[in-house]
Amino acid sequence: MIRVAVAGAAGRMGRLIVQNVVEDEELQLAQAFDIREIGRDAGELAGVGKTDVRITDAAEMESKLEADILVDFTTANAAVENIRIAASKGVKLVVGTTGFNEEQKRKIEEYCKAVPAVISPNFSVGVNVFWKLLEKASELLSNYDVEIMEMHHRFKKDAPSGTAVKAAELIKSVIGEREIVTGRSGECLRKDEIGVFAIRGGDVVGEHTVFFIGMGERVEITHRAWSRQAFAKGAIRAVKWIANVSKPGIYGMADVLGL
Ligand SMILES: NC(=O)c1ccc[n+]([C@@H]2O[C@H](COP(=O)([O-])OP(=O)(O)OC[C@H]3O[C@@H](n4cnc5c(N)ncnc54)[C@H](O)[C@@H]3O)[C@@H](O)[C@H]2O)c1
Repeated sequence: MIRVAVAGAAGRMGRLIVQNVVEDEELQLAQAFDIREIGRDAGELAGVGKTDVRITDAAEMESKLEADILVDFTTANAAVENIRIAASKGVKLVVGTTGFNEEQKRKIEEYCKAVPAVISPNFSVGVNVFWKLLEKASELLSNYDVEIMEMHHRFKKDAPSGTAVKAAELIKSVIGEREIVTGRSGECLRKDEIGVFAIRGGDVVGEHTVFFIGMGERVEITHRAWSRQAFAKGAIRAVKWIANVSKPGIYGMADVLGL
């Protein structure tokens, strides 16, 4: 049995991870951490019945974390600290949290020299195929203008989405360096740039469209997620995959899926 601890267990993604871990016979829910709902049964909170794993205050993670793998869906600041703690204890990581700045990314790279970690801004299988398609389209349409639009629920804390940022990075790795412009107003004649636009509202789980726009035509590549289960199922695949990896370092979903 792979012992899984969940950070952010009271959150939208965390509850789904708890649910999927409890329902999977290869996995055991070992611990659940959050800064709210402390003391609540993590399984009951996730709607899968009593598990006897209560939500532990994340402030106590340093002394209490004991698992094979920590799955983190929290906030950027929280995740950096959680990754530090897990790495110092040799606990492997699956991190879905987004919104890291450059300094935080540097710290995470440093910490993950000690343990294997799958870190991905999007765990859905479809989005990972979407990223592959973008690489191909960028090769074939390298002289077209590229714009990215993403749409998420009204509660999302960061913008643009980690998925959109990764899409822009992949496209730049094929067509060359471009400035990222996150909105336009006033005098703003288009230069060699990639525009990234974030729409927020309601309960939209996650939508991304990349436009390759030429003279007289355009190609649009779209991914739409309408259930967070798409992310949770991918994260569970990552948990089972990383359980068999011993070489420390950061891996992506492309490694997990063999893309
Ligand atoms: N990689 C993916 O596939 C994917 C998919 C969906 C969401 N996300 C990202 O996952 C993160 C969480 O998203 P969400 O919609 O579940 O958010 P959410 O706000 O519903 O949940 C976050 C949870 O983390 C908790 N938390 C805050 N600080 C903590 C700490 N120090 N330790 C433990 N828990 C802590 C919060 O109390 C909350 O319950 C966001 O960064 C989001 O962008 C990634």
